[in-house]
Amino acid sequence: MPINIAVVRERASGESRVALVPETAKKFAGLGASLLMEQSAGIDSHFLDSDYAGVAMVAGIPEAYGRADLILRVNPPSTAEIEAMPEGSTLIGLLKPYDDKARLAALNARRITAFSLELLPRISRAQSMDALSSQASCAGYQCGLIAAARCTKFFPMLTTAAGTIRPARVLVIGAGVAGLQAIATCKRLGAMVEAYDVRAAAREQIESLGAKFVDTGVSADGSGGYARELTVEEKAAQAEKLAKAVAAADVVITTAAIPGKKAPTIITRDMVGRMKYGAIIVDMAAESGGNCELTQAGEHVVANDVNIHGPLNLPSRMPTHASDLYARNLYNFLSPWIKDGQLAIDWSDEIVAGTLLCKDGTTVHPVVKQVLGEA
Ligand code: NAI
Repeated sequence: MPINIAVVRERASGESRVALVPETAKKFAGLGASLLMEQSAGIDSHFLDSDYAGVAMVAGIPEAYGRADLILRVNPPSTAEIEAMPEGSTLIGLLKPYDDKARLAALNARRITAFSLELLPRISRAQSMDALSSQASCAGYQCGLIAAARCTKFFPMLTTAAGTIRPARVLVIGAGVAGLQAIATCKRLGAMVEAYDVRAAAREQIESLGAKFVDTGVSADGSGGYARELTVEEKAAQAEKLAKAVAAADVVITTAAIPGKKAPTIITRDMVGRMKYGAIIVDMAAESGGNCELTQAGEHVVANDVNIHGPLNLPSRMPTHASDLYARNLYNFLSPWIKDGQLAIDWSDEIVAGTLLCKDGTTVHPVVKQVLGEA
């Protein structure tokens, strides 16, 4: 019997993405797998049931999960969804592994083998599976668009009959995958862009996009290509140097993050107080605590005539392409382990081992265990 791969509609509030798109459904079928999908699961991403050739459409979660061997998701499942999963089945998605001990306990109680794509090792071979990067590209692009749409100035320089308009000044803080995409988007729209990141490698990447690097003299490379948390002294030095660039900007886009930790606070209340009237902050880190002290997740707040936006789930604002990329990430992760319709995972593979969250009733990922105090 071929394995059954199951997908249901994502029920998280504001979620429009789906874990299986017609292109990847066809590819999984080509590997000999059977596919079960809840009716209309792709509709918010604008994929119709009729686009999924060869996929069995079923009425709801029990019908999809009841026979599942492998479950594809975007967001973590709810407790009710976990209860609908067959014992010993395999689950893959962006499972927010550090967020919820109860969810992990529920997965372990059903002996679910769970892969969390946030844990994917950042090695060259894994780039095509890197869902954090694909979704961060969508988020960074959306930040640039939100900023341009809300800005009361033109982004580009304009030469008009009524005289010349100077380009808007954009500052991007945090130049990882999302920040670089935000820089590229704002540059394409014609803004004057400056950017800053604590990782040393970021300078060259910022400059290669035609933006100016803001040098604070603070550098903090961590492990696995990520940044480390700054010390109190480093934070003070950074704030002093950044304050000037923040005060001069029409738009500040912040994307700074430390894996498994609250987002660093970089723009203080005092810095907001010294910004231009009408300036905009788009804080992409809103979901993990915000890079601006005044950010409220999912809200637009105004302080000192500065508009502070804390948008949530930015990839969901462009669900068609975000789902396309995410579904390809899933396919690229799983396809080496599906042969003749059977799932045969090599547990010693570096990518498999690095992404594995729980198996056989136990949480196995060492960093997750450490962060959750279970090591
Ligand atoms: P992230 O989402 O964890 O963080 C976003 C950015 O915030 C990072 O660039 C980080 O350096 C920066 N940051 C953290 N604290 C900061 C602070 N106090 N002030 C200013 N900036 C701060 O990171 P992301 O975007 O997921 O990836 C970071 C890097 O990982 C990439 O730029 C790249 O070099 C590397 N990477 C490698 C991949 C690979 O396959 N080899 C794939 C994707 C990323």
